[in-house]
Amino acid sequence: MAGGVRRGADQGDVARLQTDDPSGPQAPVVASWEGRILAVGPRDDVERELEGGGYPLARFARLDARGGAVTPGLIDPHTHLLFAGTREGELILRQQGASYLDILSAGGGILSTVAATRAATEDDLLAHGRRWADEMVAHGVTTIEAKSGYGLDLETEVRLVEVAYRLGLEGPLDIVPTWLGAHAVPPEFRGRPGGVEAYVRSVIDDQLPGIAAHGRARFADVFCESGVFSADQSRRVLQAALGFGLFPRLHADELAPSGGAELAAEIGAASADHLATPSAAGIAAMAEAAESGNPVVATLLPVTTWFLMKDHHAPARAFIDAGVPVAIGTDFNPGTSPTASLPLAMSFACINLGLSPDEALAAVTINAARALLLEDEIGSLESGKAADLVIWRVPTTTQIPYWPGADLARTVIKRGKVVHDGPDR
Ligand code: NIG
Ligand code: FE
Repeated sequence: MAGGVRRGADQGDVARLQTDDPSGPQAPVVASWEGRILAVGPRDDVERELEGGGYPLARFARLDARGGAVTPGLIDPHTHLLFAGTREGELILRQQGASYLDILSAGGGILSTVAATRAATEDDLLAHGRRWADEMVAHGVTTIEAKSGYGLDLETEVRLVEVAYRLGLEGPLDIVPTWLGAHAVPPEFRGRPGGVEAYVRSVIDDQLPGIAAHGRARFADVFCESGVFSADQSRRVLQAALGFGLFPRLHADELAPSGGAELAAEIGAASADHLATPSAAGIAAMAEAAESGNPVVATLLPVTTWFLMKDHHAPARAFIDAGVPVAIGTDFNPGTSPTASLPLAMSFACINLGLSPDEALAAVTINAARALLLEDEIGSLESGKAADLVIWRVPTTTQIPYWPGADLARTVIKRGKVVHDGPDR
């Protein structure tokens, strides 16, 4: 099967090239030129194609995968890359029985990260972002989405989007900034009558025009969840954002069925994320969107479910059976998923969501690309796409989720250049 989003029975249809004779003419090669893939296939065919196209074969630097599997650079379609402070105390509170929303309504959780992030300087955020972006690259990730959402006022939200954008420019990781002004209700609006509604209005009337004028955010996101922002409030924020050219995506049905999957299908979101507790109607609505050729990707975040000590996992098989494309992300953040390892999320996708290793691979490559509306640019090894590749220390892609938490990405290539070259192990 050629490129394109993987869904239904094709979710795990991973095209594979392999050979028993790595130095022979049938050995698979990827040829790139000026950061783009020129050709992929058996060496003889690729060399013939390059010569026919007038490319000087002698000028190609050669990199030998030495028996390691080669995949597209992984894509993390859901991260909260930028924040200040840590929240290890919440792990203990949860062990004592507190729920995620209890901690949030007591002014902790997201709100404690908001306080620390508002106090952080741009340089602090840049240094923090670099540290974790480097770690993502070392795990084989070449593109991520990065949400704001720990500012909850215009000034800090713009700072977060700006830092995400600048880190992306700096490279080597490509970063797609998302504005998440409706992540929680900030202290200055809490506890007063009508405070939630007043904050929603301020998100739409004050933050959104400022974020749009700043011009760096590509998506708008909302934490659509009973007890946080309702489906109606989420719809108003996302529709207003669309009017400013920010494409919708949302945190949907993470803790309880909240109409998030239905809303994602209704407004044609790029992605609905978490989906640990969607309603049957929500799954059906997303199935219908996928059938009509305009799929909303179900971006599942299994590390979060595990870290929150939940025993109910996203119904990944129901989404796949319904023909909805499934992507996997880390949800990297200080409260519910403090890991930057997308391969670790693949392990959880296999163990807790029941994806096959091939389904998990499609979920962090082409389907993750689609969740960011970048499926024509990244996510598969095809001519014309960015030359973003990983050479793994293991010989098969099935071994990537098989070694949870291991350091498996030996060499990472971003737009044709080696950006991470780990030691031989
Ligand atoms: O995706 N659920 C909402 N937002 C984040 C968590 C943010 C936080 O707790 O700091 C998530 O899990
Ligand atoms: Fe999240």
